Amino acid sequence: MKQFSVSIAGGGSTFTPGIVMMLLDNADRFPLRKLTLYDNDGDRQGILGDALAIMMKEQAPNVEFVHTTDPEVAFTDIDFCMAHIRVGKYEMREVDEKLPLKHGVFGQETCGPGGIAYGMRSITGMLEIIDYMEKYSPDAWMLNYSNPAAIVAEACRVLRPDSKVLNICDMPVGTLRRMSQIIGKEPKDLEVSYFGLNHFGWWTSVKDKEGHEYIDDIREYVSENGYLTQVEVDTQHTDPSWQDTHKKAKDIYEIDPRFLPNTYLKYYFYPDYVYDSMNPEYTRANEVMAGREKRVFDQAKEITKRGTADGIGFEIDAHASFIVDLARAIAFNTHERMLLIVENNGAITNFPDDAMVEVPCIVGVDGPEAIVQGKIPNFEQALMFQQVTVEKLVVEAYVEGSYQKLWQALTLSKTVPSAKVAKDLLDDLIEANKGYWPELK
Ligand code: NAD
Ligand code: G6P
Ligand code: MN
Repeated sequence: MKQFSVSIAGGGSTFTPGIVMMLLDNADRFPLRKLTLYDNDGDRQGILGDALAIMMKEQAPNVEFVHTTDPEVAFTDIDFCMAHIRVGKYEMREVDEKLPLKHGVFGQETCGPGGIAYGMRSITGMLEIIDYMEKYSPDAWMLNYSNPAAIVAEACRVLRPDSKVLNICDMPVGTLRRMSQIIGKEPKDLEVSYFGLNHFGWWTSVKDKEGHEYIDDIREYVSENGYLTQVEVDTQHTDPSWQDTHKKAKDIYEIDPRFLPNTYLKYYFYPDYVYDSMNPEYTRANEVMAGREKRVFDQAKEITKRGTADGIGFEIDAHASFIVDLARAIAFNTHERMLLIVENNGAITNFPDDAMVEVPCIVGVDGPEAIVQGKIPNFEQALMFQQVTVEKLVVEAYVEGSYQKLWQALTLSKTVPSAKVAKDLLDDLIEANKGYWPELK
């Protein structure tokens, strides 16, 4: 079988060890010849890189392993780049979550003003790594996780239309795992229909391979419990704040019980609830820094100190196995069906062609082909049109350096109450994001 060279961009990410473990675990389906970590923060990446080098030597001695901050080394001779960068790191995630609170608006990593601010930072970092990949390995594909995926995907559509970049999200996969637990099935045995934008969508069908429809069983469960399951189905999305999110799906579901909602809709339907339940001194960024980040980096330091990974295992990212399915689909033309963020082009028939939507796709050697989801109801269409216009305005503001357009984006966001609040927020965000955003005029 062919062996692949993979570069992980954002090598210092809290998710890197989990992805590496998952790649090793899938070596029979997706063999590696080389694995490279790339980050622009060598110190941060070095802590994980040194530990993973020890682990790779013990568990996969035939795979060449490198961690580097040199783009030429990182992107030469690769087949895939798996990207999960966070421009501004946790320090800026904390700002995205806390700054809007001063204006009476909730703060969140990918939704509302926080997501818009993060989008303006991410575009530059993403374009940089896409350009490195195309310079040093023109045939490679980038499988991108970096958030905010909706804005990043729109920026790719506008600014790098011919680049081989696939933007993906693990939330639908994670929720499908919950659904499969609810009905006692394996996620791999289920096939879904879904329409929406990233972090903004609805399931319309959940069938097994024989065509039996389970959506009514899941609706019944969600109407009482949301997606809160009896048994934990994942190592991700388990902290108390996530449990609250799974539970809140019950209230999102009630608004349109025909479909099963993405949990992120809570930020658009219940912004007052989210705002009221936030602690301005301690947000999700703080929870992650004290939790996942600390755990992963402590483990890495321990491995390096002992000189062996024996007995100290990083957790395998079960959710990330779909990134391998995606790489395999392209590499081996498997035609697997998966949800991806792609240009609409008629997949949702009553929605603009040039909108980046999240829909099921068939993935093969040439990338994804979207499966037509047909016409969507007015309620969802209107919500999506508002949100996708926010995302488009952010990218236009970035490209044109336009203060006016970013003000419009914030004003249009369902999460911001008025143009006045939007303007005050914008002025504060510009100040807080100095050095990360293009200059706005
Ligand atoms: P993290 O801060 O731990 O890691 C991000 C790394 O990116 C850091 O080491 C940082 O130095 C590096 N980085 C920043 N800018 C860079 C640049 N221009 N070039 C190279 N490296 C750069 O963050 P994390 O919590 O592990 O998350 C990583 C990313 O994955 C985030 O964007 C997060 O939102 C995203 N994510 C997405 C999904 C999804 O569903 N799409 C799921 C999980 C995480
Ligand atoms: C889900 C979303 C990601 C998001 C992540 C945040 O997986 O799909 O897009 O980045 O949650 O999780 P965290 O644990 O960092 O709050
Ligand atoms: Mn996501």
